[in-house]
Amino acid sequence: MPHPPIEPRVTPTGITLSHVESLYRKYENDLRQVRAEQRAVRHRNPTLKAQLDDLEAEITYLLVRDNRPEVAVEIGSLHGWSTNWLLRALRDNGTGRLFTHDLIDNARRNVAPELAAGRWTFVHGDARQTLREHGHDIDYLFIDAAHTAKFARWFVGELFPTVRSGVPVSVHDVFHGRRPWPLSEGRVVLSWLAERHAAYFTASRAAAPPVNEALTVLKAALDLTERVHDGRDDPMLFFRMP
Ligand SMILES: C[S@@+](CC[C@H](N)C(=O)[O-])C[C@H]1O[C@@H](n2cnc3c(N)ncnc32)[C@H](O)[C@@H]1O
Repeated sequence: MPHPPIEPRVTPTGITLSHVESLYRKYENDLRQVRAEQRAVRHRNPTLKAQLDDLEAEITYLLVRDNRPEVAVEIGSLHGWSTNWLLRALRDNGTGRLFTHDLIDNARRNVAPELAAGRWTFVHGDARQTLREHGHDIDYLFIDAAHTAKFARWFVGELFPTVRSGVPVSVHDVFHGRRPWPLSEGRVVLSWLAERHAAYFTASRAAAPPVNEALTVLKAALDLTERVHDGRDDPMLFFRMP
């Protein structure tokens, strides 16, 4: 069904290194607390599979704090690692709901009831069906699901047109190297952005070493160096919906 044109609500701030640095400074104390909570989640459940690396998880947290979404949609939660980061940002905002879509429901076991209460809805199934004609006014879109070109063609073709301009979007596993693999999800999204002359941001160690280094230095200055997760690739792509 065609969707009516969607207008931006506010003039959004671009996702740039200087903006992300300013968010680290602004939310430094809340982030320190959330990092400790996330470490405790892993400590309590050593078998929990966690995908998001620290920088990309923290940037996600900071963008949710900065944008104060009323409706956040997550596609791909696995054991709930990213879900916990997103829910803590909504909790700290004091507003907003998260709708998580996944083929498997393991995340349900790893989200504390007090964190979920009143703000989390888990939708079990294939996002291509469960988000069909979804009716949400999405304010933050987080995608970490099937990393295939086919899945990406679905979300750029059918989901993106339902999201208004200016909304922050993150797509995981794009920049494990300097460029996304050919025929991958990342290649499809980057081509879609290039056709629209849209800017993007990444802290990927391989694709944006100066950004990665600058944020690592800033975190050291803020005493946020103790690792939450072992991964150091940070392959997430961030952009605002053009
Ligand atoms: C890489 S994992 C997500 C990792 C998680 N975000 C984290 O931070 O640990 C990918 C998840 O996407 C889910 N997935 C794959 N294809 C999907 C689809 N079509 N609809 C919904 N979920 C899907 C998988 O079941 C899996 O749990």
